[in-house]
Amino acid sequence: MTATFTVEGLKVAIGAANVLRGVSLEVQPGEVRGLVGESGAGKSMLGRAVLGLLPANAAVTAGRIAFEGRDLLAMAEAERRRLLGRRIALIPQDPMTSLNPVKRIGAQIGNLLRHHLDLSKRTALARAAELLTEVAIREPERVLALYPHEISGGMRQRVLIAMAFACDPALVIADEPTTALDVTVQRQVLQLVERLRLRHGSAVLFVTHDLGVVAKICRSMTVLHAGRVLEEGETANVLTRPRHAYTRALLAATPRADRPAEALRPVPPALIEQLWSEAHRLDDVAAVDAA
Ligand SMILES: Nc1ncnc2c1ncn2[C@@H]1O[C@H](COP(=O)(O)OP(=O)(O)OP(=O)(O)O)[C@@H](O)[C@H]1O
Ligand SMILES: [Mg+2]
Repeated sequence: MTATFTVEGLKVAIGAANVLRGVSLEVQPGEVRGLVGESGAGKSMLGRAVLGLLPANAAVTAGRIAFEGRDLLAMAEAERRRLLGRRIALIPQDPMTSLNPVKRIGAQIGNLLRHHLDLSKRTALARAAELLTEVAIREPERVLALYPHEISGGMRQRVLIAMAFACDPALVIADEPTTALDVTVQRQVLQLVERLRLRHGSAVLFVTHDLGVVAKICRSMTVLHAGRVLEEGETANVLTRPRHAYTRALLAATPRADRPAEALRPVPPALIEQLWSEAHRLDDVAAVDAA
């Protein structure tokens, strides 16, 4: 079986700084893989590299990204664009800034559908209303006529989820889709992603720093720190028998229903420091090798 998504030895640098230091991971068809790690680990950079949306001063310096066996980095730009939004979709980290503020919701979903699926304006709008119903938005016709600022943050996130799944993608990259939302809305959003990915048969790379979320919805997981994979495997195995000290520390810092809040221990700063100096040492070794 060809993996839906394969990343091999991916290195990304921003100027002289390395942000991904040789990341490898795989997502099988229909699989949900969690990508966990603290702020600055490089989770969003990975997603952006896949989508060809790296910041202007960033560059892929090594490695391979393949979608259904085809090399995304070697692909012609036009071909890659055809895949994005249709076969590979993103649920972005920030629902506030990810919708165009001056366009109605209906126009934004409609344009996406017309662009990728070649639908007429009328069919696209009808389909857009169906999509909003799929994400449990009531009175979809009314909502289609609204601007993003006229709906709540939770609803904006639902709209973005509807757009991500609109063209039956094989892969959805969900970049912390619940971080900006309160707990109740978070739970609803997780359920929605779960329902839609089953309905559309999509694989999901679910980016989060919340191990609780990973335990709930991800079959497998990859732990990233300072742009390096520290551990990966089936979620059940990693969470019950973590091999890396960092994964153990993350677990000890994660609230759980069966444990009093007092038992929570933050990740020790000394461990974080040690991991960063390890990463920088590896950079030095690579620089010497390259010279
Ligand atoms: N536009 C940018 N220019 C320069 N450096 C950047 C830029 N965006 C991110 N970085 C750096 O790249 C590294 C990885 O950032 P990234 O956004 O991928 O982290 P993340 O794991 O997604 O964190 P978070 O959980 O906060 O979203 C960080 O050290 C960050 O400071
Ligand atoms: Mg991020």
